[in-house]
Amino acid sequence: MTVPGASRIPYGGDYNPEQWPEEVWDEDHRLFTRAGIDTLTVGVFSWSLTQPAEGTYDFTVLDRVLDRAAAEGRRICLATGTAALPPWLAKKYPEVNRTDFEGRRHRYGQRHNFCPGSPAYRRLSSAMAARLAERYGRHPALLAWHINNEYGGTCYCHRCADAFRDWLRDKYATLDALNDAWCATFWSHRYTDWAEIEPPNALTEHWRGPDHTAFQGTTLDWFRFTTDALLGCFLAEKEAIRAHDPDTPVTTNFMGMFRPLDYHRWAPHLDFASWDSYPPLDAPPTWPALAHDLMRGLKDGAPFWLMEQTPSTTACRDVNPLRRPGELRLATFQAIAHGADAALYFQMRASRGACEKYHGAVIGHAGRDDTRVLREVTELGRELDILGNAALGARTPARTALLFDWDSWWALEISDGPSRLVRYQDTVHAYYRAAREAGADVDVIPQTADLTPYDVVLAPALHMIKGDLATRLEAVAARGGTVLTTFLSGRVDEHDRAFLTDVPGPLAPLMGIRVDEWDSRPEDVVQPIDMGEFSCEARLVFEIVLPRGAQSVGTYGTDFYAGTPAVTRNSHGKGEAWYVATALDQPGIDHVVRRVLAHHDLLGPYAGQPGLETATRVAPDGTRLVFLLNHTPEAAHLTAHTTATDLLTGKRVERGEPLTLDPLDTAILRVQ
Ligand code: GLA
Ligand code: ZN
Repeated sequence: MTVPGASRIPYGGDYNPEQWPEEVWDEDHRLFTRAGIDTLTVGVFSWSLTQPAEGTYDFTVLDRVLDRAAAEGRRICLATGTAALPPWLAKKYPEVNRTDFEGRRHRYGQRHNFCPGSPAYRRLSSAMAARLAERYGRHPALLAWHINNEYGGTCYCHRCADAFRDWLRDKYATLDALNDAWCATFWSHRYTDWAEIEPPNALTEHWRGPDHTAFQGTTLDWFRFTTDALLGCFLAEKEAIRAHDPDTPVTTNFMGMFRPLDYHRWAPHLDFASWDSYPPLDAPPTWPALAHDLMRGLKDGAPFWLMEQTPSTTACRDVNPLRRPGELRLATFQAIAHGADAALYFQMRASRGACEKYHGAVIGHAGRDDTRVLREVTELGRELDILGNAALGARTPARTALLFDWDSWWALEISDGPSRLVRYQDTVHAYYRAAREAGADVDVIPQTADLTPYDVVLAPALHMIKGDLATRLEAVAARGGTVLTTFLSGRVDEHDRAFLTDVPGPLAPLMGIRVDEWDSRPEDVVQPIDMGEFSCEARLVFEIVLPRGAQSVGTYGTDFYAGTPAVTRNSHGKGEAWYVATALDQPGIDHVVRRVLAHHDLLGPYAGQPGLETATRVAPDGTRLVFLLNHTPEAAHLTAHTTATDLLTGKRVERGEPLTLDPLDTAILRVQ
């Protein structure tokens, strides 16, 4: 979401001043002003304060927080605070406590602790949202609504089991259809009454945890139902807000590549997408980049908000390293480069106690104004001022798409066979990384998205093929584009039933191949892959491919299928389709993806520069911004590919002249 008329992106973060004495607030605001903080997310965990008992609402503290913010000229992202139950509520309505995967009804504790099917939760959370909207819907400081917080988890109580049965009845209408979808004749599961259906968990279809299920169709439907159940909670609150405030945009903070919830199902109901970025510790920069692009893809490329990131360190990991000097700045500009139109932190001031007291914050417990973190945050605030509104509302002009599909993720990872070692995110990331490091802007989109804007469509590990996707991919190739897919794609329909045709199912005609068998091997078994002038290694799964029109581009080097194709290319209409039948190593994927991109002239100008990321945004007035992000600890020595002005330094850059980026530095080039 782009704030209309804003002079720069919202900058700030989660602020919980109800946790410390009011005298401290003065100091908070003094430092916010110094650091250029203009936006505060408040109320995220304030339910027990704003509603101390069922019939009692008390907004005195929240009033003061909002009024103070308004008086200081800051804007508010107001949370409904329904992600953590107050103790009285759980005591009075024990039904709100979740029942876990093992069937244990939990007692009061932690957060994200509500049963989504609990009528008391629905009623009281919606009532809270309504009260807040009634009270603050016209507040001058209100910028956006933040419903709940990081929705997640699931509940197996009898109410949720009933809700699952209702959901199934809506979906399938008849038990015959359900039995058919779930292949229920396998292991004698034909249901004769909806009441016989059990939620899949440790007491029913699962063993060895959530990924081992006897009936994938059942578990997939449970995952979809879980998304819809939590979405139902969100929608109830949104509706309550809308009754009092018809306009202020509504969001909830997502978690990027978060397996349990299908954010594509959810996205149409958000006014804008927002997410919390806490990349794994040793993740390469393309990991958060992929998540940014996935989040941007939720609303058809519209700018999203970076709702949270840590200014320095997390607390929840066993070991919580600091962000090194410069890393926060780089991560923030990376988010903006990928379409963020807000940069917010968790958190503005450190909690005094409980499990996040050592989580990084813009202001620490001592409230000092001379810390490294505050200095970096302040300096970044100053640079965001300099950037001003140049990137606001700007879109990404990608000609490469990557299909990301929660159903395929689930289906692949709950499958018995061929290999538990193939991880969806790793496979998708490897292809994304190859394209990004080659300098291509990439839209990460759902199966249902319009494919007509793209020259290249990457569809790694697209296990499940739904609707008319195969036809639409054929159309991409027919008009001259390239489609690439990989091993373990085109295997199952929307119910996880194998296609009763050759692998890769509906993709087979486009790929011009037939996969006859697949050999799944431990991680230490390596296949050398020969691609003529280039060779690499492959692991995990080796599909045995019989070309049916496609040409072999690379072959396996050993075993009884030595010499048979591991990578193929098929002509289709004016374009082509590539099939990668095994888990190539990263150099192998880079090689294939670069060949595909080069064919469409999509290699970036700095594709040869390791660790140098480029990303393009085009502003509403047509101005083209090229972000150059140096992710390495060494200076990057480039030759400018265009004449431009660096918006951060104001310096003019001439095409063909040397351009140097310091370690971890960013340049934002306004192309002339
Ligand atoms: C999440 C939550 C926050 C906080 C941070 C800590 O993103 O939304 O409330 O717990 O993690 O990293
Ligand atoms: Zn429940």
